[in-house]
Amino acid sequence: MADPGPRSLLYEGIMLPALVHSRESLRYAQLGFQVRDSDVFSVTYPKSGTTWMQELLTLIHSNGDPQLARSVPSWERVPWLEQTTAAGFLENRPCPRLISSHLPCGLFPTSFHGSNAKVIYTVRNPKDICVSLYYYSKMASFLEFQEDFGEFVELFSAGKVLFGSWFQHVKGWLGLRDRLNFLLLTYEEMHQDLRGSVERICQFLGKPLDARALDGVVENASFQAMKQNKMCNFSLAPRFLLDQTQSSFLRKGITGDWKNQLTTAQSENFDRIYREQMQGLDLSFPWDQ
Ligand code: A3P
Repeated sequence: MADPGPRSLLYEGIMLPALVHSRESLRYAQLGFQVRDSDVFSVTYPKSGTTWMQELLTLIHSNGDPQLARSVPSWERVPWLEQTTAAGFLENRPCPRLISSHLPCGLFPTSFHGSNAKVIYTVRNPKDICVSLYYYSKMASFLEFQEDFGEFVELFSAGKVLFGSWFQHVKGWLGLRDRLNFLLLTYEEMHQDLRGSVERICQFLGKPLDARALDGVVENASFQAMKQNKMCNFSLAPRFLLDQTQSSFLRKGITGDWKNQLTTAQSENFDRIYREQMQGLDLSFPWDQ
């Protein structure tokens, strides 16, 4: 395990940003938080499309009307389970509670197991995550930043980054994929067919939308619309925390950006680690093709 560094907190072997997590908030998430059957969790490894899913869930529950999404920050609409702000705030939310989490499966609330709460788990090509996380670390003062991209790729491949190993996160959560209340989505399929993905989410949530409401969701959750929405583009965050002159939070919003960033050697090395780590997982992702 890498040295957690001054901005990080090491909790059960996972490095987390200390600014928004504490041992108490993590313990609360795991042991104190009481999951309700009506809860809907959006779970992601960072940079997998978390903010996008927050926007989609808000818009689906608003029947495509953007009013709420444009007037309340995303982190209040679909608040975080594990952050220091969670206790008290989450308990007072109306049902169904829409909740975000980056936690690995092993640190999720114990009361989740045995409940009927729903989990939407969004995965993204890890090479694109690596690139996105690199630029995010550059702009976020509360993350450790390794300027040398090649070294960053090595740290990411070895899981020595904040939120730990992408491989462990994905393998842990995919262990639940046969549960009825688990929906697996990929950033890539959302990118390719947002409308179809929204329909899948609606079906999973038991919340059918008519064509007009679907149009509203798709339109307002487009990359361009979200980039303009200050309630989700993080322009509300002070510059000393997120310096968007270094990089934008909604940076490129594309698939396959890794091809512009990783050298052939870095990519091949990552592929080797990927094959080793994902061996035996009976599942293929869009980026495997
Ligand atoms: P890039 O840095 O590759 O552009 P998270 O919310 O989990 O931190 O993920 C952020 C990533 O999701 C960023 O990726 C961001 O641009 C992308 N993203 C957010 N909203 C999006 C949208 N509507 N369409 C496509 N990508 C989106």
